[in-house]
Amino acid sequence: MTKLSDTTLPAGAPAAAAPSAGTAPALPHLSFVVVGHVDHGKSTLIGRLLFDTHSVEEGKAERIQAACKAEGMEFEYAFLMDALLEEQAQNITMDTTRVPFRTDRRAYTIIDAPGHKEFLKNMITGAASADAAVLLVDAKEGLREQTRRHGFLLSLLGLRQIVVAVNKMDLVNYDQKVFDSISAELREFLGRLGVPPTHIVPISAKLGYGLISRSEHFSWYKGPVLLEALEQFRSTPPAAGAPLRLTVQDVYRFDARRIVAGLVEAGSLSVGDRIEFFPGGKHSVIKTIEEWPARADGSTPKGPVGAGRSTAITLADELFIERGQIGGPPEDPPSVSYYFTARVFWLHADSLKVGELVPLRLGAQQGEGRIASIERTLDAVTLDASTGPATEVKRHEVAEVRIRMRRPLAFDAGGRLPALGRFVLMRGRRIAGGGVIDAALRDDAVGGGGLSANRVALLGHRGTVIWMTGLSGSGKSTLAQELEKRLLRAGVLAAVLDGDVLRTGLSRNLGFTTEDRRENLRRAIELALHLADAGVVVIAALISPFRADRAMAAKRAADRGIPFAEVFVNAPLAECERRDPKQLYKRARAGEIPLFTGIDSPYEAPLAPDLELRTDEVPVGESVEKLADLALALARPPIPENGAGADI
Ligand code: ADX
Repeated sequence: MTKLSDTTLPAGAPAAAAPSAGTAPALPHLSFVVVGHVDHGKSTLIGRLLFDTHSVEEGKAERIQAACKAEGMEFEYAFLMDALLEEQAQNITMDTTRVPFRTDRRAYTIIDAPGHKEFLKNMITGAASADAAVLLVDAKEGLREQTRRHGFLLSLLGLRQIVVAVNKMDLVNYDQKVFDSISAELREFLGRLGVPPTHIVPISAKLGYGLISRSEHFSWYKGPVLLEALEQFRSTPPAAGAPLRLTVQDVYRFDARRIVAGLVEAGSLSVGDRIEFFPGGKHSVIKTIEEWPARADGSTPKGPVGAGRSTAITLADELFIERGQIGGPPEDPPSVSYYFTARVFWLHADSLKVGELVPLRLGAQQGEGRIASIERTLDAVTLDASTGPATEVKRHEVAEVRIRMRRPLAFDAGGRLPALGRFVLMRGRRIAGGGVIDAALRDDAVGGGGLSANRVALLGHRGTVIWMTGLSGSGKSTLAQELEKRLLRAGVLAAVLDGDVLRTGLSRNLGFTTEDRRENLRRAIELALHLADAGVVVIAALISPFRADRAMAAKRAADRGIPFAEVFVNAPLAECERRDPKQLYKRARAGEIPLFTGIDSPYEAPLAPDLELRTDEVPVGESVEKLADLALALARPPIPENGAGADI
């Protein structure tokens, strides 16, 4: 074993408290998390790192070693970690433990969470935010489900500095082939997630190989050892070059002045800067930066106050500012939207359901968001996506969803400023899930302003009319009912308006003359538009045999600003007659039903329908998918490729 000069510490010396002469300057502090399958050696790795960097109290390891010997047990480095945790147990107020250690180059904090759930919670709430991650893989076991899930969560959380440690190399005889094959599999998987590992390092945590010193056992490995790989990582800079994001935590009245207290999450602020508060858009100029106690010479700070610092300011104008608002430069504001796409993971035993209204917290902002749709769920292990919309997100699943807030939210989407795009979802007062916002969605396509916009906000879609026309027995009612089910499953409030049903109620007094059919259609379209105004996706299934009448329906919808689509449910007359589900053709042929469509009353097929379905050729399921695509495209605006320009 050859030791590396810059990580070598004099034996028995306490961990260097300051960079010693002759070494490179100390690097900024780095927090990292160790994740991986529970049996892949996490505690051993952490214990060994502490031991080898002399970060454990002198004599402790020896005492544990002696205790092990007394009990006839083999000493394990994991015991060090356990002992440390026991000591901290009294002080633990959150789910994660922070284990400090240092070399003469850098101070580190290992963030240790008992499970990925705790880790996620803390990352999302900002309780413990890691700059980097060590993903641990057992050389003998290779990639396991948990390894993949952890990789997935790292990518979801926006952690980009990842080093993979392939542990227990001693158990595979330091075989390069084993290492190479695990490396290739990992690179492929993490690459697909968009988080390619910076390094993949072979180690044996138990024997201390490859952590801080090189081992001749894997002389074939030319890359850095684990600590060197960690040294190459940046401490996540407190978003310095970014635009200002001031999270307002409180507003105080103080001798007639209004003082805005908050946390500078990104960028910086100085006296004289223009600042706008989102959502809301009230703006002013920073007049003073307050400091307690006041300086002896009476001077006041001018700034800049940088990212990561709490501060209090006064403004040139008296503005009504509220807790939760985000202050930022007017020329580089956060997104403000009440509708967005997000990737969420769900931790609660009861699934997250489409249509559910959930309390949501993003920084100091609180609100309620409705799960407008679940676009797809993702298996965090295989990265396989569900093929289409789902109705629920089960515990430990990850999903792409659309969320519609009751009130607008200010945020930075797409990982631009990670802290301003992460949120937690609550069930009652407990954190039940979390997520990251991918893009704001344009909402102006979804109904005008005012009350109907409120309905859209409530439902997650706008009202629409899908008009299905076709011969009796062509399959309108069947398709309408299946479509209704399909849309309801996708979280869309849908309702069928069926000719047969209308004719037993609203149109009970009408027959089948051309006039009566026109009046029947007029009543149907008025009812459909009324429902669509209330937000319902109406699936009308009427023979509606006359072109002019259908054109009138389309025009009425256009006048009311309601999306309308004409669907031709097409089966040849002979086929309809063969099906004859209600034996009506038979009776019409027998002269018992006069003016029967297709027999002695005409059917005018649509010339340019929005969709034509040959029910004698295409199976029901396939037609329903086409109908659903059409209905969803009308009821929901398309998702933009990215958030740019998508704000409302
Ligand atoms: S429409 O022509 O006015 O649009 P609508 O769809 O409401 O017709 O009603 C058609 C249903 O009424 C048929 O499915 C059938 O059950 C029944 N019906 C009774 N008499 C007739 C008829 N003469 N022509 C067509 N359908 C009829």
